[in-house]
Amino acid sequence: MEVVEEYMQRLYESGLYPDKFVCYGKQGNVVDVEDPVSGKRLKLLTFCTNDVLGLVQSEAVRQAAVDAIAQYGTSNSSCSVLSGRIDLHRQLEQEISAFKHLPHTHLFLNAWMAMQALVDGFCHLAINLPGFQNTRETLIMTDVLNHGCILSAVVNAGNRSGKMFSQSPDVRVKSYRHCDVNDFARKLRRYAKPGDRIMVVSDAVFSMDADIAPLPEMLDVLENYPGSVIVMDEAHASGAIGATGGGIYEHFGITPQQVLDRGMVPLIMTTFSKFAASAGAAISSHRKEMIDLLDVSPTSIGTISLPPPITAAALESIRQVRQYPQLVQTLQANARYLRSRLMEHDFEVIGETNVLPVVLPQDVNPKEFARHLMEEYGVWVSAIWFIAKPRLRITANALHTKEEIDLLVEAMVKTRDALYQQPAVVATA
Ligand SMILES: Cc1ncc(COP(=O)(O)O)c(C=O)c1O
Repeated sequence: MEVVEEYMQRLYESGLYPDKFVCYGKQGNVVDVEDPVSGKRLKLLTFCTNDVLGLVQSEAVRQAAVDAIAQYGTSNSSCSVLSGRIDLHRQLEQEISAFKHLPHTHLFLNAWMAMQALVDGFCHLAINLPGFQNTRETLIMTDVLNHGCILSAVVNAGNRSGKMFSQSPDVRVKSYRHCDVNDFARKLRRYAKPGDRIMVVSDAVFSMDADIAPLPEMLDVLENYPGSVIVMDEAHASGAIGATGGGIYEHFGITPQQVLDRGMVPLIMTTFSKFAASAGAAISSHRKEMIDLLDVSPTSIGTISLPPPITAAALESIRQVRQYPQLVQTLQANARYLRSRLMEHDFEVIGETNVLPVVLPQDVNPKEFARHLMEEYGVWVSAIWFIAKPRLRITANALHTKEEIDLLVEAMVKTRDALYQQPAVVATA
């Protein structure tokens, strides 16, 4: 334990350890939170929840969760391979399949497990089958800024041994520069060997930069490698981009079927922790075999299936989104309004979605900025100080009012005035 203790002591001293807030309740966007420093209770206006459509508080979603507990209890108490699924699992899979236009779907407890199971299953298959051998290598292409769940899954897949999986041919993992299609094409030309199975994995919306993967251009490149698989992690895309919240495919006006028609294979990961007022993840595919493989992957066999209230909340949320696309339109209008107001005040807002990263000057501590916003104005945004460009991460949601957005912007301007001098904007000829 000495190493752990010493490391943690240094981490506390460095100021890099996050403040731990505890929440007691929520009404709209007002949360009742315990201040980790003073222990006092604060009423804060939140701009850091991922409940982007506000469905966590929807009557219909809450009732669905309560009804599921009444019918099934709080847990399924086993994994689906050993003691079956509940009907709600099947309904949720069908709902996601319809939402994502891919007919087969499998559920997981969260994105990390879904991604691990998918990459492992694709590269190494599952249990040992006497007489069956796969010797084909896999080349995985990954954006350098992909979410940790992707990074972890692809690195692990590159290190699997036959102890865990029957098939363990080589997996080569190569990263390409962030959203850089030329680099993507160059790396494919350099690393793809004849006979490779190719899998490309990307965030659809990047969680810290809020930009969108250049899917159409990626497909144009990938078309030169027939049979390639393209995986989109839609954690921040579902319910947020596309006219009805359908995600990256709807955003770009293409369908998974068109990708199939062009000789490539689309796979989609949906998660429920953001737009769907719940937790959990799903992988969707056009092939039943891919989904059945996930069911027998070690990640699925060895763990609990999605609990009934969690499943029911996600199911009802997706039904709400499909029935009331105006929720998505309100979210998008709020995000546009907030973005334009921040830019009007010369904040460096990057990306293009309802996640609004505001990059701060290098010498400004985002934790200090966020603390000031909280203490002086009762506004809660996330401070992101652990990546290269320190920033505030602000998330707009469908419940925010214009007045609340204006209040945030005013508080941001006053906090900036109090903490540092805004660099003068130099006019260019
Ligand atoms: C791109 C991406 N993938 C996966 C996740 C993890 O999703 P979950 O917490 O729903 O499992 C996140 C969370 O922010 C994310 O941004």
